[in-house]
Amino acid sequence: MKKLSSLWQRGAEFLGTNYAIMGGAMSWVSERNLVAAISNAGGFGVIACSSMSPDLLRNEIKETKKLTEKPFGVNLIIMHPQLAELVDVCREENVTHVVLAGGLPSSKTIASIKEYGAKVISFAPAFIIGKKLIRSGVDALVIEGMEAGGHIGPVSTSVLAQEIIPELKDVVPIFVAGGIGRGEAMASYLEMGASGVQIGTKLVCATESIAHANFKRAFIKAAARNATPSVQADPDFPVIPVRAIENKATEDFKRIQLDTIREFNDGKLSKNDAQLKIEHFWAGALRKAAIDGDVDNGSLMAGQSVGMVKKEQPTAEILDELIGQANDFLAEK
Ligand SMILES: Cc1cc2nc3c(=O)[nH]c(=O)nc-3n(C[C@H](O)[C@H](O)[C@H](O)COP(=O)(O)O)c2cc1C
Repeated sequence: MKKLSSLWQRGAEFLGTNYAIMGGAMSWVSERNLVAAISNAGGFGVIACSSMSPDLLRNEIKETKKLTEKPFGVNLIIMHPQLAELVDVCREENVTHVVLAGGLPSSKTIASIKEYGAKVISFAPAFIIGKKLIRSGVDALVIEGMEAGGHIGPVSTSVLAQEIIPELKDVVPIFVAGGIGRGEAMASYLEMGASGVQIGTKLVCATESIAHANFKRAFIKAAARNATPSVQADPDFPVIPVRAIENKATEDFKRIQLDTIREFNDGKLSKNDAQLKIEHFWAGALRKAAIDGDVDNGSLMAGQSVGMVKKEQPTAEILDELIGQANDFLAEK
């Protein structure tokens, strides 16, 4: 029987942590408090830069350093108009690990991070993309299935794991994300050859998380089946799938799409304006729910593992529970 510590040794060494558990960056939620709490508990916190300006990111990194001396990373969205400046901030602040999200990063961006000695981690939503990312120089992959919260791809974690881990596990460390709510699942992916995991939903209700009490309550109440992907009404008007707990906004979004498409068909809106109106619907929606507490009109982004979120509890306790479950599971063999 292999012990947890040896199963994830490579991942833990890569991250510089005790546990190879990354706290997946969550816009608005993964700020200094939760990030530092994850790192202090032995995991790897990741700041969600999202749409922050370079100055705001610099400040967030500095404030996080005041709360922890442990390693943590920064997640950058590659569509950010000031991506190069954000990389400069990471370099100046000596960020050791940069996670590139939101699409396929260019070799130039990857090189600009590696040049100053940091590690680059990126998302592989398919085997072929994983191979391409490795060719472009990334140091580790996150494979995130459609069970995850937030923006999702079409393939489940279990299938991505089977397609990617056996082929690429000897090339770079692989972290599995999406739908992990208990230690048994974590241990199983490690036994398949993953180097670690990334979890998001399970950490939203951490005591240290600044998410609004209403947002946390919605997570504690929800079952797995309540966290569904956004629905696209018309193939001509694409919608990026986002998994969230169903609420009034979910219904409003369906209606807005149908009304907008009707306006387009009646010649009252151009195609471009109709598409923009649909895209605009969710602008600021996560902040509205997660920070302002408007859980009716905001977006309750959450993964299917939300059904395993039962209460607010300290980050260290969440990680210890996962590790306890993983150890018990491995000991039973
Ligand atoms: C509320 C919320 C916000 C998220 N925001 C981001 C983000 O800004 N960037 C990103 O790369 N992933 C984001 N994610 C995905 C997480 O980083 C993580 O990969 C995912 O939550 C893992 O799946 P799980 O929720 O099933 O644990 C978000 C997830 C949630 C639930």
